[in-house]
Amino acid sequence: MSTGAATCSAGATLPPQRRALRLPDRFDLAPVDDRNFSACERVGQAIDAVVAGWLASRGYDRLFVTLATPDFAMGLSALVRSLRTVSDVPILVLTQGDFVPDVEADDVAFLEVPPLVRLGHAFPADAQHLAVTLSKLWVFSLTRPARVAFIDADCLVLQPIDDLFDGEGFAAVPDLFINYKTPAFNAGVFAFTPSAEISRGLFQRLPELSVGDGDQGILNAFFPNWRQLPQGLNFLRAHALVRAQAQDQAIRIVHYTPSKPWVPAPVSPRDPVLAPLDDLWTERLTPVEHVALVRDWRARLATAEANIASWMGPDTARFLQDDMDFADGRKRRRRERRLKYGLVALVVLQAVQASFIAWMLLHQTNALK
Ligand code: GLC
Ligand code: MN
Repeated sequence: MSTGAATCSAGATLPPQRRALRLPDRFDLAPVDDRNFSACERVGQAIDAVVAGWLASRGYDRLFVTLATPDFAMGLSALVRSLRTVSDVPILVLTQGDFVPDVEADDVAFLEVPPLVRLGHAFPADAQHLAVTLSKLWVFSLTRPARVAFIDADCLVLQPIDDLFDGEGFAAVPDLFINYKTPAFNAGVFAFTPSAEISRGLFQRLPELSVGDGDQGILNAFFPNWRQLPQGLNFLRAHALVRAQAQDQAIRIVHYTPSKPWVPAPVSPRDPVLAPLDDLWTERLTPVEHVALVRDWRARLATAEANIASWMGPDTARFLQDDMDFADGRKRRRRERRLKYGLVALVVLQAVQASFIAWMLLHQTNALK
């Protein structure tokens, strides 16, 4: 197990083994159309060569890979930190965009890759995030490592997962929420044995595959004979809504999809059962990251308040007060309702009692006659 940072004789701390890899200068990082096989092949071969050089220098032949864009920066540090506590295998971070990842860990390399895109394809407004996921496919440029495990940057590793490198073929975890014609896997965690055939085969088939569901649709179409991995290796946050095992020891990777724990307005249901999973992620942050997260949320809150002010103008204060009154009102109404039902019950009870007494009296009077 690596210790994170080595200490030299003078007592100073050396930075961990981090590497910023670079594609050769002739690659300008402009978007590459996924239907342009020769462009994909050219970039792919360059990625393969750069990564192979780095891996050989570290003496490894297995590799974790992830992809990070600026909006996933927080996810990336939590992922890398959590992964490093359970594995020594090198981590390659493919990056995209204006982004200087700040991750302190041994044997982590960063490589900026061009966006892989389907030129002319317009993703719906609520599915813009899917466009970026095509760039995950650059991982299949690799042909030389003995085995590769890809993990999305919105994942958190809780327990050892190096057995992802065991076995052959393409392996992934079923997605319980997916709505494909056949049972499908989630593309957030997968392992495969790289080869030139897979690389060429995938990039050749891309033009005929639909990009509508991002990399997940493409990979499910390309690897129909996937091997099933245990659910705990890619426990989707939403699975906690339907599976009692949310607190189970078997969970080794939590995958925060579709909601991200660093985004304060979740796009999927808020349910108390989900909170413990989100807390697991927050607990992995450093104090500095914690502060940054809270600052980000406060900034968003300020935006919300500014929006309210511009919609409501002078009525803002009343609007916010109404909200509080609304909450108070709910409590008050609940109290009033309880009191009302209590009184009704009391009146009914007394009426029953009164009729019983009346009946008794009548009965006695009749008996005396
Ligand atoms: C789902 C998967 C994610 C994938 C995306 C696009 O959100 O969880 O891994 O990248 O779909 O296909
Ligand atoms: Mn994901």
